[in-house]
Amino acid sequence: MADGHDTVLVLDFGAQYAQLIARRIRECHVFSEVVPFDIDPAEVRARGPRALVLSGGPASVYEPGAPALDPRLLGLGIPVLGLCYGLQAMARELGGRVEATGVREYGRTQLHAEPAGSVLFRDLPTDQVVWMSHGDTVTAAPPGARVVATTDAAPVAGFEDPARGLYGVQFHPEVAHTERGMDLFKNFLYEAAGCRPNWTSVSIIEEQEAAIRAQVGEDAGVLCALSGGVDSSVAALLVHRAVGDRLTCVFVDTGLLRHGEAEQVEETFRRDFKVNLVHVKAADRFLERLAGVTDPETKRKAIGGEFIRVFEEVARDHGDARFLVQGTLYPDVVESGGRQTATIKTHHNVGGLPERMHLELVEPLRLLFKDEVRRVGTELGLPEDVVLRQPFPGPGLAVRIVGEVTAERLETLRAADRIVLEEVRRAGLDRQLWQWFAVLPAVRTVGVMGDGRTYAYPIVLRAVTSQDAMTADFARLPWEVLERISTRVVGEVPGVNRVAYDVTSKPPGTIEWE
Ligand code: XMP
Repeated sequence: MADGHDTVLVLDFGAQYAQLIARRIRECHVFSEVVPFDIDPAEVRARGPRALVLSGGPASVYEPGAPALDPRLLGLGIPVLGLCYGLQAMARELGGRVEATGVREYGRTQLHAEPAGSVLFRDLPTDQVVWMSHGDTVTAAPPGARVVATTDAAPVAGFEDPARGLYGVQFHPEVAHTERGMDLFKNFLYEAAGCRPNWTSVSIIEEQEAAIRAQVGEDAGVLCALSGGVDSSVAALLVHRAVGDRLTCVFVDTGLLRHGEAEQVEETFRRDFKVNLVHVKAADRFLERLAGVTDPETKRKAIGGEFIRVFEEVARDHGDARFLVQGTLYPDVVESGGRQTATIKTHHNVGGLPERMHLELVEPLRLLFKDEVRRVGTELGLPEDVVLRQPFPGPGLAVRIVGEVTAERLETLRAADRIVLEEVRRAGLDRQLWQWFAVLPAVRTVGVMGDGRTYAYPIVLRAVTSQDAMTADFARLPWEVLERISTRVVGEVPGVNRVAYDVTSKPPGTIEWE
């Protein structure tokens, strides 16, 4: 990227927390990227980072096959901060001592620091709570390094050698349980490494604008599949700032959206931001394709296939387009490092389109975490409704209708879902939840309404908390909220006579029902 900001590389030694470390550093307004632990020192030098951070890892430095620290990385003249395993790997390389003392520390631990004369602990208290997770212990700091922190079980819980720019702590400053973790990062970044805190939403926007202009050139057209979600919205607006009218956004209304979403996309993009918007009203086509389809994977493939067909038709009218905008985020970039996982669900996006249509990808979010995307969106002036929108699956409401998707069933689900949205918002719970929505199963149950027997469908309410959708927990919604939703749904939505609450976490459940 541009020279505007400093970069810190986080070397991943197999930590659960490597991405979290990068996020924390970015919260200090310094750009940070995760790279493999065995990165070539020549490449490090070429990338010109201001500092290196060595992450923790699951291994013991003495285990056969443990990820080894290349000692040349410590001699580049670039300040290094080792965390947990990173500290131990440094200690070992630099002539300190690492031992399995038999005493392990896990969880909250009292730390005794020596702030006087220390860089890492400057202006921090002598006693503080930190988060530990280690078996091996550094029992002697490397020659020349000063011990700046200890715990009851760790005689060297932190050392520093400012002359050589080498620093390490045994605990995890990146996790929230470490009370002064952010201050420690700031001391390292600003004091030890001289980083400037200039990675901000404004700088991200400026850099991306310049990068997009450089990639796209002076006259080619750019297409963007707009879903209404925060990622594609922010990506589209960044590209719009860079190339203006050469961008055409294609919004495919599949008829499988939540109440009010299509109108909002119109309003935000066409009216407020004056973006060229092609709004394809394709509900009938999608319903036709879904007629008689009940198998979840067949549904997903049918929708994905139809989406591509619709998009291609629009693109034919824009023959000058050579680029396609995609809202890929940084975690996808880091995680798609070749790992093989079972296909639980076929995710539908514009995958496959770029090759078929010979389009080059423009990915203005590929260096950003989700919270950064949201901040950039706010900075760009996107309404809060869009910036804070909950994730929504590409196949839309179709994967929340068990069994066949029909116009009537869509209407039922949409009406119930709208009540769920309204009541969760009214209760002020929308900031605490990851996703909340209604599901329409394919069974009917008996009820009684007025004086009569009913035989109708239930609505299942799904509300989960999560960090990243990889795992999730069902939300402990207050009874009063559940009661209001239940009363309203049964009272207001024709064809529904019962409301159930899904109390399954992920795993073993998934968030969506199909
Ligand atoms: P599951 O149901 O697998 O979903 O727990 C995990 C997260 O992904 C969303 N999801 C999708 N997102 N295209 C998407 O872009 C899809 O096909 C798709 N299917 C599920 C889901 O809403 C949840 O946030």
